[in-house]
Order: sequence, then structure tokens, then C-alpha cells
Amino acid sequence: MGRSFFVTAAAFLAVAASLTSRNATAADPPQMDLTKWEPPQLRSVGDDAFGKLVKYGYALMVDTPNQIGPMVTDPAKRYSGNNLTCQNCHLKAGTQPYAIPLMGVWGQFPQYRGREGEIGTLEERINGCMERSMNGRVLPLDGLEMKAFLAYSRWLSSGIPDGAKLIGAGTRNIKEPDRAADPGNGAKIYADTCAVCHGKDGLGQRAATGNGYQFPPLAGPDSYNNGAGMTRVLTAAAFVRHNMPFGTTFDAPVLSDADAYDVAAYINSLDRPIKPNLDKDFPNKMQKPVDSPYGPYVDDFPAEQHKYGPFAPIRAKVRELAAARK
Ligand code: HEC
Ligand code: HEC
Repeated sequence: MGRSFFVTAAAFLAVAASLTSRNATAADPPQMDLTKWEPPQLRSVGDDAFGKLVKYGYALMVDTPNQIGPMVTDPAKRYSGNNLTCQNCHLKAGTQPYAIPLMGVWGQFPQYRGREGEIGTLEERINGCMERSMNGRVLPLDGLEMKAFLAYSRWLSSGIPDGAKLIGAGTRNIKEPDRAADPGNGAKIYADTCAVCHGKDGLGQRAATGNGYQFPPLAGPDSYNNGAGMTRVLTAAAFVRHNMPFGTTFDAPVLSDADAYDVAAYINSLDRPIKPNLDKDFPNKMQKPVDSPYGPYVDDFPAEQHKYGPFAPIRAKVRELAAARK
């Protein structure tokens, strides 16, 4: 029991502490700080049926192109359309705070999703990344791969209460500059700080063996498509500022907010695969993020401003429209 008891006890204490300190009522969700959370170790996973699935889920996370990529031998297993790896974005197999960690996500679903305009399951969320970040096709819900991703997420979330308010989840916002992002300045920052790994044109550098990359492509035919979360300038800026250059963590960012904003605009100005039917996203256009780079929009701001900002005027307009509809 050792470790799992310790983890459970730690979770209990963290929950108890947050409850007492805020003098909360029973209805308040517990708060979990993932930046101080120690994720479980893969070597503690056994070889029982569940353990085997967890390990396959881990392999899918860290070695995606060689497991379900477009170049694997079995055509039936070619689920992703590019050779990215889940952990290219969900860093350290989904355990790095503010690098869209998968710790705790198990207990956050089902949840309302504006992009689909309905309550979505964790399976649907994973398939969202399959169709967009991985530019591929959905995993069958009853297939081994989906079960493995679920088992891995369940295991990574051990000890984290369902519905907890998670600190360190997603990405950490940047302080948004009060101007449009400048892809020209972004290109300079890219050349100075990113090109050494991701390549002059953002096409990445292949791994010495296998189908994947040592440094993943940020653009081009083998990267995420234009419907992916990373194509939103504020999402990309938040990710980059707190995780790049590789090795950076949220508590010691290298780029300034402004430089992260500009370099995000630059990578999102580059060509990438196109996802069909994006106009069907966000059935309620009021819920569309202001930096969604594709229309239609509820407001009259040009697409260019939705892509690069400034976003404050768009937010103000959307608030005004919402008030008028009440
Ligand atoms: C190109 C980067 C990228 C890749 C590669 C990627 N994702 Fe994601 N993923 C994201 C972003 C960005 C989000 C958050 C989007 C948002 O809500 O703003 C996300 C969200 C998620 C979530 C929900 C997390 C939460 O906090 O609610 C899950 C689960 C997920 N991805 C699973 C996967 C899996 C499994 C793979 C591999 C098959 C994968 N992703 C590959 C970028 C990526
Ligand atoms: C030292 C090498 C290095 C440098 C410099 C670097 N990166 Fe990365 N980057 C990586 C690696 C490696 C990954 C994938 C992480 C993993 O798989 O563990 C990555 C992942 C990414 C991703 C998500 C995956 C994808 O393909 O989109 C983005 C976005 C990104 N980097 C942007 C940048 C930007 C912008 C800069 C410059 C500010 C930068 N990186 C600098 C090595 C680097």
C-alpha cells in the first residue's frame, strides 16, 4: 500500500487544508495544486489487465507516431494523420504543470464544451485532439487505444478528487499586450530562439530512428491542423512562454509576454493542414474564443483581428452583444 496510501493521505490533507482555509461550504469543490503534486511512477504499475492498459496508454502518449501514426505497418492502426506525439504538447507524458497536463482530467469530465455546444466526454475530448492536433481520425470508443488512453488518464489522476479545482491545469495565461501580435517581430524571435531545434521553416527535425521527430514540426503538412487549440494565438503564447525553449517551466519563463505573443502569431501565420467543416464549431458563436482563427464570428471584427488581436475590443463587443440579448 505504501505509496498509494501516502498519495491518498496527501490528497486528503490538501483537500482538508483548502476547505478549512477558505471556510468553505460542503458544496465547494476541493482545490488541487498540480504544481506541488507528485504524479505516480510508471514503475509502480503492475502487469494485471489494468496495468497493461496503463502501460500501453503511456506508450501511446510518448511514442504516438510509431504506435498509431500514418506510417505504421498495420493500415488499421493509422489513426493519427501526422507524426506528432501526444507529449510534444502534453509534456512529460502529461505530467508537466501548465503544459496541458492530463493529471486530474479524469475527474473533470463529462463537461460542457463550447466547441461542440454540448456536454462532452473524456473520450470525445481525446478524439478532439486526434482529429485536430494529430490531424487524424477518431479512435473507436470500444477499441484498445481509446481504452488505453482512458486507463492512463485514470491512473495519472489517482488521488485527485473528482471535480477538483485544478491549479496548474491547461496552460498559464500570458499578460496580454494591449496591441495586435506582430508576426514580423515573432519571426525574429523564432530565428533567434526556436529555429535551432524546430528548424528554419518550422518543419522540425526527424528522430534518428522511427517515424517521429526529435524536434516536432510547428507548421507544414506533418503538423497540427488549423482547427487545433494550438492555432489560437493566446493558447500558443501561453504554452510557449511557460514551456519553451524546451526545458523551460512556468515558474522561470524565458520569453517576455510580448515576445511569446509575437512568436505565437508567427507560427500561426505558417501553412498547416486544413480541417474541413470548421464553420460547424461553436454552434453558439457567443461562446467562440476571441482568438479562434477561423470564422464565422458573432461580431464584425475582421478575421485578421481574431487571429492576431488586439482582443480586448472584441471581448468588449461580445459582452455588449450578450447584454443586448438578455
Ligand atoms: C499540437 C499540440 C497537441 C498535441 C500533439 C496533442 N494535444 Fe491534446 N490538447 C492540446 C491543447 C492546446 C489542449 C487544450 C485546448 C484548450 O482547451 O484550449 C489539449 C487538450 C487535451 C485534453 C483535455 C485536457 C484538459 O485539461 O481538459 C486531452 C485529454 C488531450 N488533449 C489528449 C490528447 C491526446 C491523447 C493526444 C495524443 C493522441 C493529444 N492530446 C495530442 C494540444 C495538443
Ligand atoms: C532546445 C530545443 C528547443 C527549442 C530551442 C525550442 N523548442 Fe519547442 N519543442 C522542443 C521539443 C523537444 C518539443 C517536444 C517536447 C516533447 O516531446 O517532450 C517542443 C514542442 C514545442 C511545441 C508543441 C509541439 C508542436 O509541434 O507544436 C511548440 C508549439 C513549440 N515547441 C514552440 C517553440 C517555440 C515557439 C520556441 C522558441 C521560443 C521553441 N519551441 C524552442 C524543443 C525546442
